[in-house]
Amino acid sequence: MTSSISSAQKRIPFEPTDVTAPEFRANPFPTFKRWRETRPVVPVKALGERAWLITRYDDVQAALKDERLVKDRENAKDPNAKSRQMWVPPFVKPLTHNMLDSDVPDHSRLRSLVHQAFMPRLIGQMQSRIHDLSHRLIDQAQAKGSLDLIHDFALQIPMTIISEMLGVQPKDRANFHTWSNAMVNVRKPSDGIFAMPSLYRLVQFLRGLFREHLLNPQDNLTTALLKAEQDGSKLSEDELVGMVALLLSAGQETVVNLIGNGVLALLQNPEQLERLKTQPEVIKPAVEELMRYTPPVMFSSPRFAGQDLEIAGTQIPRGDLVLCALASANHDPSQFENPETLQLERSNNKHLGFGMGIHYCLGAPLARLEASIAFRVLFERLPHLRLAIPAQELKWTSSLVPRGLKSMPMLF
Ligand code: HEM
Repeated sequence: MTSSISSAQKRIPFEPTDVTAPEFRANPFPTFKRWRETRPVVPVKALGERAWLITRYDDVQAALKDERLVKDRENAKDPNAKSRQMWVPPFVKPLTHNMLDSDVPDHSRLRSLVHQAFMPRLIGQMQSRIHDLSHRLIDQAQAKGSLDLIHDFALQIPMTIISEMLGVQPKDRANFHTWSNAMVNVRKPSDGIFAMPSLYRLVQFLRGLFREHLLNPQDNLTTALLKAEQDGSKLSEDELVGMVALLLSAGQETVVNLIGNGVLALLQNPEQLERLKTQPEVIKPAVEELMRYTPPVMFSSPRFAGQDLEIAGTQIPRGDLVLCALASANHDPSQFENPETLQLERSNNKHLGFGMGIHYCLGAPLARLEASIAFRVLFERLPHLRLAIPAQELKWTSSLVPRGLKSMPMLF
């Protein structure tokens, strides 16, 4: 069945803006403003195809809750159409399917099982670990006499904390980080080919970790995931691999950017930074405002039109890729007063940086805890922290979903 929308819409050209270009990622906000005002659902090129980018706050909020937009592309296909899935080696398969790419009812089952394991108690226990780790990282930078904020600090925190929560032994951490980084850095199929050896080792390592924890249960996330049960159903070993892989990728590339982008924004707004230094209790709303002002995640993960549909007057054919521009929604003046201004104590800050609806970020409490401790320790220990190069020379990554800096050389 070919819909009438589909043939008309196929001729619509993309906007020429490359939404993954580092120059765009550095400051996408003027372009988002133009799109919100003139073309609120804009076709752009993403992941090698046309994607409909939703840019206004109200539309993004509605789209994140819209059941007509599905996460598993198979569910957006005409049931009569032949499935064309890319072949992946069987050992990598468990890494490629997870809760974030699932729809109801699969999603509900997976989410409720991991939700049991991702307990506030486990996260609360990490508070002093995050604090000690942040201090240790600053000690190391001081001893070395140099600090790349991304590699030496912002990335180390989520990577180390999730490894500890999973019960990865210190002796295995270096390898584990290398393999999980290789997975996180797969952005297109060709990257996957080079990453294969690391992906293979990561899957083997995780299977071994599960076996060890079955024999010797511990008070950690891996044991909690193994034990989680609902209506007699547990996570299968492949589902466990997929879940841990999701936690690794969703938790690392995001928190590193919240810390990196956040520090940059604070250095560029010295009066706000001063307020944070003199009134540390501001940290809670400050983390929310940094999430809004300089979002660590630019777009939602992909969704697909499960049927022909219309959003803000734009027709979207069944099967097409749809992305919610969280960073644009977070700067929409219809929702936020003076959206281009950083106000650490902004009230009623209903930003969409952690998403909304059934896929709302599972790790939001952990991310908030990690970032608030990291900011506090960093500015307490290094009150004269500043960039070692002009901000215009900083390089932004060209990933589609996360938005962050490749590196941040600092002076202190
Ligand atoms: C500043 C840090 C973070 C940001 C900005 C962030 C953002 C997001 C967003 C926007 C979504 C929804 C995506 C969508 O609907 O397409 C999401 C989902 C998710 N996040 Fe986070 N995240 C962060 C940290 C974390 C951490 C630390 C973890 C766990 C270790 C985590 C685990 C997840 C998981 C598992 C999902 C999928 C939930 C589901 O499908 O039900 N995130 N995150």
